[in-house]
Amino acid sequence: MRGDIIKYLSDEVKRRCEMSGKFFGIGGFYHIEAVVKNSELLADKYNADKEVVMIAAWLHDIASVTDYSLYEQHHLYGAEMANEI
Ligand SMILES: [Fe+2]
Repeated sequence: MRGDIIKYLSDEVKRRCEMSGKFFGIGGFYHIEAVVKNSELLADKYNADKEVVMIAAWLHDIASVTDYSLYEQHHLYGAEMANEI
């Protein structure tokens, strides 16, 4: 597993959550961090590609933590942002 990608995504999600005026704030980061930890356990249990699962987990709410106005469609905007990242 390329830890540099995971570290980059963790840092990027945290940076976005810590920006001033964000609706979810650092709580968004803690939520995503918990999802990543659970996804890692589930990847082991189901013999999934752990790197792919963890990347998806880090990015799953990227639109919501970046711009709360995207919340209702965050699954769609998040996919676009994930592609850009
Ligand atoms: Fe989430």
